[in-house]
Amino acid sequence: MKTIQVVVTALMGLTVALVTLPAAAMDVDALVQKRQQAFKQNKKDAQRIKAALGSGDMQAVREAALRIAAWAKEMPAAFPPDSNPPPSDARDDIWLNWEGFKQKAEENRKAAQALADAVEQKAGADTLKVRFGALGQSCKACHDSFKN
Ligand code: HEC
Repeated sequence: MKTIQVVVTALMGLTVALVTLPAAAMDVDALVQKRQQAFKQNKKDAQRIKAALGSGDMQAVREAALRIAAWAKEMPAAFPPDSNPPPSDARDDIWLNWEGFKQKAEENRKAAQALADAVEQKAGADTLKVRFGALGQSCKACHDSFKN
């Protein structure tokens, strides 16, 4: 009797696993697509900042920098454990060094905020250029460690 119960319980567990697995897999695919979309926006915003610094459109610089900062804040939550099935370019190192990954996201947020602040403080072109450079470095620093 006990054996039958164990088998039944195990089978029920298996059914649940089989039913929930595809749904979970789909969620991960959607999540990867969504965060890749956010990173594509990051790239657009970086290009927009570069162009806007050239043309002197400070409002556009600030807006794009703030959008980058907002995404940097959300970023860690977009990387639940082992959420890197193909075509994700996220490395396993993200979860092997979770604190390091979060730190890189926070550095990126701070760099973007510092650029937005510089616009607000009407900083000179040199300062803006330096802060934009630092922002770009903070993207690269994370990619070097955590992106394929
Ligand atoms: C804290 C880490 C981190 C920071 C900071 C970061 N990225 Fe990324 N980025 C990633 C990871 C990880 C991926 C791969 C995501 C995936 O494919 O699942 C990625 C992917 C990308 C992609 C490819 C998106 C696609 O088409 O699939 C671009 C473009 C990109 N990042 C640009 C940027 C820019 C620009 C910045 C800075 C403004 C930035 N990233 C900051 C970690 C980071």
